[in-house]
Amino acid sequence: MEAIFKKLEEIALKIDNLIKNGESGYSQNSNATGDQQLKLDIQSDIIIEEELKKLSNIHSIISEEKEDIVTINPDGEYTICYDPLDGSSIVDYNLSVGSIFGIYKGRLSGENIVASYYIVYGPRVEVVKTIKGKKPEHFRLINGSLQKIADISMDEKGKLNAPGATQKNWYPHHKALIESLFQEGYRLRYSGGMVPDLHQILLKGGGLFSYPGTTDKPKGKLRDFFEVIPFALTFIEAGGGAIDDKGRSLLELDPKHPHDTTPCFFGSNYEIERVKVAYGCK
Ligand code: F6P
Repeated sequence: MEAIFKKLEEIALKIDNLIKNGESGYSQNSNATGDQQLKLDIQSDIIIEEELKKLSNIHSIISEEKEDIVTINPDGEYTICYDPLDGSSIVDYNLSVGSIFGIYKGRLSGENIVASYYIVYGPRVEVVKTIKGKKPEHFRLINGSLQKIADISMDEKGKLNAPGATQKNWYPHHKALIESLFQEGYRLRYSGGMVPDLHQILLKGGGLFSYPGTTDKPKGKLRDFFEVIPFALTFIEAGGGAIDDKGRSLLELDPKHPHDTTPCFFGSNYEIERVKVAYGCK
């Protein structure tokens, strides 16, 4: 897998350069889920596909920006599912965004993720690499290469609350949960980019990021293979939790379609227990 991580480091540099110097604004195209694509979405996707195609150990790639699976090498071992530029609707307003990669071995399912990797393009470029069974590692791009900062371990409880989705469509039990955390003193931290929002919760030791099912979107918005399962691996290996609205670990997801979505909750253990109680899972 080292060759994959090396390639992802090169991709981080290229996409960072693209964000800083590329064209802003929307293209005329829509992606597989019907979202209108930014020029940066399309170009990031091209960069990643071109680079990953150079690796012989990759069986196939699946992009959030494409409908179909692209087979690279029938003898390859890994499938990489990626969101080339997550949170791209805020990039043109100069907020932080990210790229997310899930590396799977065998049949595509939550239990077969073997590593995840995300890049945050913010005031600094940072990376979190997680190999199943090991603590996530935090890196920063310094003078053109990644330097390790630390392993990441979450505390039992945090102070941040990042509640996603349209509030008027939240179910009453979800609204009650979010309000009760604010009553306990949690502070609102939600930028609209899941990569920087989850990164902040991880590095500050804890809190809750939620993207629930809502009355208009009962299955939520965040995509299982590109967003939810890769972050679930990171939170769980950091000692926190990642569950759906039934209280199941997000690593037990077994999506039927590459673009399936699920309600999801990521946090430290105290907040994840609170979600389970609020959703009637305990
Ligand atoms: O991928 C979708 C995304 O942009 C995430 O990065 C982010 O957390 C979420 O959507 C924001 O959605 P909403 O504005 O509905 O809370």
